[in-house]
Amino acid sequence: MTHSPTSVTIPVETDGEAIMKIARSIRIFESYDVECIQELWNQYAIEGEACGYFFRVARREGEVVGFACYGIRALADGAYDLYWIAVHQDHHRQRIGEALIKRVDEEIVERSGRLLIIETGGKPSFEPTRKFYLRSGCELEARIRDFYAPGDDLIIFTKHF
Ligand SMILES: CC(C)(COP(=O)(O)OP(=O)(O)OC[C@H]1O[C@@H](n2cnc3c(N)ncnc32)[C@H](O)[C@@H]1OP(=O)(O)O)[C@@H](O)C(=O)NCCC(=O)NCCS
Repeated sequence: MTHSPTSVTIPVETDGEAIMKIARSIRIFESYDVECIQELWNQYAIEGEACGYFFRVARREGEVVGFACYGIRALADGAYDLYWIAVHQDHHRQRIGEALIKRVDEEIVERSGRLLIIETGGKPSFEPTRKFYLRSGCELEARIRDFYAPGDDLIIFTKHF
């Protein structure tokens, strides 16, 4: 099946609603994940990129269908964190996540960054997410067992540029 092209851009203020709609559509996100995204967006909407992290949105025919949020890692030279990436639950496996992470990679390289760090969950429900990161050129760097809760590990992926 062919899909209309995806463009990745800097969001405008009114995109906040669509970003939150996407966050709420994600079945594996807990309510505190959605609240965290809302807080980051609220700060970004007020301060813009001066807040130290950057939202990007993926659009299809004008509609926001995905977003990413990354930022500069404190106390490290040229390291970035990917805080969030999400594609609306109805639009998975259409290469929208790929377009978002590609844009994030390009921007990090433009900023002379050298490292992207991605933290995610080790639960079975995050298996598709982990596959996505591996497929996107990330390496499995570390696992902290029982980090989030007993039996719920933290997985750290990295990408070196
Ligand atoms: C992870 C996520 C952003 C990927 O976005 P997406 O647009 O669905 O993924 P893409 O279509 O760009 O996938 C690119 C490749 O990644 C791999 N991949 C993506 N989803 C996969 C899945 N469910 N199962 C297996 N592999 C998968 C595949 O290799 C895929 O290429 P293919 O379809 O040609 O095989 C999306 O699934 C999502 O929003 N997940 C929930 C939120 C989340 O977990 N965010 C990260 C934690 S912050």
